[in-house]
Amino acid sequence: MVRVTVPIPERAYDVVVGHGLLEDAARYLPEFPKADRAFAIVDRGLVDRVFGTLAAGLAEAGLDVVLLPVPSGEEAKTLQVSETLLHQLATQEAHRNDVVVALGGGSTGDLAGFVASTYMRGVPFVQVPTTLLAQVDASVGGKTAVNLPEGKNLVGTFYQPRAVLADVEALATLDERDFRSGLAEVAKYALTLDLALLELLESDPGPVLTRDPAALESLVARCVSAKARTVASDELDAGPRLFLNYGHTLGHALERVEAFAGRTHGEAIAIGMVFAARLAERRGMAAPGLVGRTTRLLSSLGLEVDGPLPAVDEVTAAFRMDKKFRGGVRFVLLRAVGEPVVVDDVADGELRTTMLEMGATA
Ligand code: GLY
Repeated sequence: MVRVTVPIPERAYDVVVGHGLLEDAARYLPEFPKADRAFAIVDRGLVDRVFGTLAAGLAEAGLDVVLLPVPSGEEAKTLQVSETLLHQLATQEAHRNDVVVALGGGSTGDLAGFVASTYMRGVPFVQVPTTLLAQVDASVGGKTAVNLPEGKNLVGTFYQPRAVLADVEALATLDERDFRSGLAEVAKYALTLDLALLELLESDPGPVLTRDPAALESLVARCVSAKARTVASDELDAGPRLFLNYGHTLGHALERVEAFAGRTHGEAIAIGMVFAARLAERRGMAAPGLVGRTTRLLSSLGLEVDGPLPAVDEVTAAFRMDKKFRGGVRFVLLRAVGEPVVVDDVADGELRTTMLEMGATA
């Protein structure tokens, strides 16, 4: 078991990473002496499996557990679902010291965090992420959100959890596509912030790909440590935290064009990282070789590194809905691996040429 502290002043919390944690959840949860109940917002697909183990742990911690199942995946991230949950909290008279617990992937955590942050202006919140993507990224750092038809994550808050329990045992049964999708976020950390992790994955991705529990524990803890450092230095996304958006400018645009029904988030950001590497090489910002290193890494993790891409104009229109759009399209690019920079002056022509080069239709 590894405990990583997210050292945000006044609101520091621990991310506990381990194998079989949920069976002993009471031991790893912080104390909530004023809480009576835990409102567990649970991905419907986990109600018959993982939820029982967590519920026993919450009960052992002295909390009465109320189950609030929600749809799996992005389908849960709507204002309607959050409104239903807020009504459920209100009608069941949840009070401001009661705890909201998210059990599921990134979408469940984003939704539950949004609900926890807005009900009574904020109630205690615990993340129990069950996908690789959520364990290495989404559950840590306090970003909460729901989507609008116009775009992803357009409504949300910054609201830190009180604790995160990342049990890598949950990854053993994860669907292969979801697991690989999480590996795209892992690659993001390796390429931008953790060169030792990059070298480790390059030299032998085997134990991670076969989901060896010790390898997963170490992998998740490494990514969480990188994220914890970044978030502590820039909680509100105005500086270094932007680096965590590596691959996300094109990734979010693809998700938007494909209306959340095409590539998974990880698949989209994998393409986005290749795109960013190509842009960096094209501008002479990065030495030749970055694209090759990026594609080799992603391919070795089982991720697609090229097309098909939608039409250039569709992607360009989608860039404009990016919530980070400021009259130009903002990219995180690498000068070299481990050296991310935020770039706001990428010209339309560069975007177009790079998209065409990657197989987008004109
Ligand atoms: N997923 C990027 C961030 O939390 O800032």
